[in-house]
Amino acid sequence: METINFTRGVPANESFPTAELIDASTAVFKSHGNQMLQYGPSRGFEPLRQWLAEWQHVDVDRVITANGSLQLIEFLCLHMIKPGDLVFTESPSYDRTLGLLRRHGARVVGIEMEPDGPNIDALESALKKAVPKFFYLIPDFQNPAGATCSGPKRRQIVELAQKYGVLLVEDAPYRMLRYRGKEEPTLYEMAPDRTLHMSSFTKLIAPGVRCGFMLGDPATLGKLAKVAEDTYISPGYVAQAITWEWCRRGLLPPQIERLKTLYAPRLDACLGGIEKYMPDAKATKPDGGFFISLTLPEGVSTTAVRAQAAGKGLNLADGLAFFPEGGGDRFVRLPFCALSPAEIDAGVRRLAESVKETQSAPAAR
Ligand SMILES: Cc1ncc(COP(=O)(O)O)c(C=O)c1O
Repeated sequence: METINFTRGVPANESFPTAELIDASTAVFKSHGNQMLQYGPSRGFEPLRQWLAEWQHVDVDRVITANGSLQLIEFLCLHMIKPGDLVFTESPSYDRTLGLLRRHGARVVGIEMEPDGPNIDALESALKKAVPKFFYLIPDFQNPAGATCSGPKRRQIVELAQKYGVLLVEDAPYRMLRYRGKEEPTLYEMAPDRTLHMSSFTKLIAPGVRCGFMLGDPATLGKLAKVAEDTYISPGYVAQAITWEWCRRGLLPPQIERLKTLYAPRLDACLGGIEKYMPDAKATKPDGGFFISLTLPEGVSTTAVRAQAAGKGLNLADGLAFFPEGGGDRFVRLPFCALSPAEIDAGVRRLAESVKETQSAPAAR
């Protein structure tokens, strides 16, 4: 029996545009060899920043790049967070960001996630108690829940951010992977002076290019550029130059279309499997991204189901790490992009069996 891994939210190997990257690499070494092999400004390889600014319709001084978007969160923490400082995140949220925040000693308050984004009443009552250094959100196809923040909630979040003077940190690596439905405006578009917007080429080209970017106010980005310079002098220009040449050739839009064609049937296989094998499950129903999440039935823990599933060749991630203030013992994240539709179907079937067996074996809970 083949093991199925519903564990890590990685892109599919078959999605990587390897041949295009080889061509772009050869060309850019010839055209920009010295510039990409030399140290340079810590904000990133200049032609890539220019390209990003045009693509995102912002001035170039509103763009900084780094070796992946996670590193930009680290730079933000190094710049802003002292032990004991308050930060809000959604609950659940991306476990690696929570780990970074903890490493900096931040006090993290989780704002409960609903199928259409954070609970706004919970947000306002938390803000009435104390204003955080920032509120970290993933409004599009959230990791790990899969939920997308509705238009009305985006407006309410921006209004509250203005009212209480909160910086919004919008992490949007899945935004462009919408397989159906209508796009909502970004928080950055709605409140550019209150929002730092992040995205990355990890999900659009490959994680190996380690190329993330942030849009924001030039003063804050200047501070991050100083932290970046003190950390690594300049980011990986070789990968940034290859990324730029690939983008400059107009290869991003067709790549996004290819990704949608590859991933949409995988989302459908996952939704279809849940419908077929776990019709009563409380699951999110995303229109894009990498993740569906499930809340297991009352009394059934993810830990027990994981143990049961392991015996059937199904690896599941622990839900607990996604919850900043505890909870999550019935939470399951299903990353579907790196599995074929047949594997997804088999994986959900094994999950449903594991849940049933756990329910009928109370001692195993
Ligand atoms: C919400 C979110 N932010 C950031 C990252 C990390 O991206 P990068 O590879 O650009 O550091 C991920 C990767 O899974 C993610 O899901």
